[in-house]
Amino acid sequence: MSDHNEFVKMTKDNVACQGADERFRSVTDKWIKSSVENKYTYNFTWLGRPIIQYPQDILALQEIIFKVKPEIIVEAGIARGGSIIFSASMLELIGSPAEVLGIDIDIRSHNREAILAHPMSKRIQLLQGSSVSAETIAEVKKRVGNKKALVILDSNHTYEHVKQELELYSPLVQKDSYLIVFDTVIDDLSDELSAGRPWGYKNGPKKAVDEFLQKTNRFEIDEEIQNKLMITAAPSGYLKCISNG
Ligand SMILES: C[S@@+](CC[C@H](N)C(=O)[O-])C[C@H]1O[C@@H](n2cnc3c(N)ncnc32)[C@H](O)[C@@H]1O
Repeated sequence: MSDHNEFVKMTKDNVACQGADERFRSVTDKWIKSSVENKYTYNFTWLGRPIIQYPQDILALQEIIFKVKPEIIVEAGIARGGSIIFSASMLELIGSPAEVLGIDIDIRSHNREAILAHPMSKRIQLLQGSSVSAETIAEVKKRVGNKKALVILDSNHTYEHVKQELELYSPLVQKDSYLIVFDTVIDDLSDELSAGRPWGYKNGPKKAVDEFLQKTNRFEIDEEIQNKLMITAAPSGYLKCISNG
């Protein structure tokens, strides 16, 4: 076996072992709880714009974008723009001509201005509206066409909303690309940690993903990603498309 193949095998075995390590899992779960209590995911920026993610998930997205080489990245949930600027910058780095389509129900003017003034804005299209409205979906379908899309859902985290998003956006994803559902971690955390939010323990994106996977054989959870990251906002949320159906 070549040195490279040996290295890849070693890391795969390592990831599988760490994913099955109950002690590691238990300290990670405690860490996640403290990080949510401390609003840790709000601490970071990407190329100057706030990105509301764990650094681990950002690294996973980099690996996915490099591997999939999507022809368009569709992201529901822009907030202050860091995640769409991240995706655009990855496309720029790999020399892809692809664009990012960012959707948000409320693109505040100062965020829009900062995104449009950013060097990566040349690769970004903004669409204001609910990710599940008929108008938005018609526009998204038009812009995606037959392109190989990578879809990232990070908008309203209620079970009902994510359930609709999964139904509407999954047909856009082709074999070997991904449909990524963020904040599935909500379902694992106590209601107390989602206080004041319309989602909570066993009632968020993960519930929607579980039901979705029972109805489709086009997607499966990429367990290697979550076992690799351990710390992730998207446990069971990295869905790999395994068939065009
Ligand atoms: C968690 S933030 C997105 C974070 C961003 N992806 C990042 O990593 O920085 C969620 C965003 O979803 C938007 N949102 C809420 N409901 C929505 C809906 N129905 N359709 C589209 N966007 C929605 C909010 O306005 C908010 O900006």
